Amino acid sequence: MEFKNLLIETSDGISTLTINRPQVLNALNSEVVQELECALYELDLDAAVKAVVVTGAGEKAFVAGADIKEMAGLTAFEAQDFARRGQRLMLLINRMHKPVIAAVNGYALGGGLELALACDFIYASEKAKFGFPEVGLGVIPGFGGTQNLSRLIGPNKANELVFSGRIISAAKALSWGIVNELFSPEELLPKALATAQEIAAKGPLGVSYAKDAIASGLNMTKEDGFRYEASLFGVLFATGDQREGMGAFLDKRTAEFKGN
Ligand code: CAA
Repeated sequence: MEFKNLLIETSDGISTLTINRPQVLNALNSEVVQELECALYELDLDAAVKAVVVTGAGEKAFVAGADIKEMAGLTAFEAQDFARRGQRLMLLINRMHKPVIAAVNGYALGGGLELALACDFIYASEKAKFGFPEVGLGVIPGFGGTQNLSRLIGPNKANELVFSGRIISAAKALSWGIVNELFSPEELLPKALATAQEIAAKGPLGVSYAKDAIASGLNMTKEDGFRYEASLFGVLFATGDQREGMGAFLDKRTAEFKGN
């Protein structure tokens, strides 16, 4: 499928999805949100794709937020609908079977930070900047940011960032645990792709079930999470990937997983 605002390139089982509206710092209007949802849904179903890296076009921004021009005229009901559509996209990323890595190459503000937070982890350029400027616009983050940020870094740091609307450096985002690792702008995408390749070489069902166990477990008591983990662990013993992975270890050879 062709997309107006997205570039998708797949090589060696890794898809790079680039949000491509650099003239407005890749701001998310409703069309981009819908295209992202369609594209990620298709990539999740595509057996040739093992992992996805999400980034922004140009040197300045990952995504500078939801499109303020489009949002400015919304009624309350339209705004609620827009937030729900954005949240549906973030939940889709959470529920995808494949890992999704955010490669944050510049500003990740508002909806842009929400998109990065919905990914499984974030790598960023040393020049990236992060923040939730929404309160300065008289609103709040609406694509799941209040929920995902507080779960990731705890309510106190989330409160400070969201209440102040402050834009923080990549180094601060790293020290707060928003970002896993920083790279020079040139190194960012190659490093994200290399990690995606490392993951793609592992058992796809194992990676997918691990994502499910961690994401689902965050909404469970620890005991329910343990029970869920044990059931997924057990199911994997009915797969070819388990036989291949353990067989390859015992035969002292490299495993060749088929994801079945
Ligand atoms: N929506 C629409 N257009 C945007 C945009 C956004 N979020 N961010 C930037 N742009 C546009 C600008 O209007 C400008 O367009 P024109 O050339 O037509 O004027 C172009 O992108 C370049 O931006 P600037 O000239 O402003 O670039 P700058 O370097 O001076 O500033 C910036 C960069 C600090 C990121 C600034 O653009 C900015 O503050 N952007 C808005 C950030 C923001 O408030 N994001 C949160 C949006 S609300 C939200 O996301 C709600 C939610 O949770 C769902």
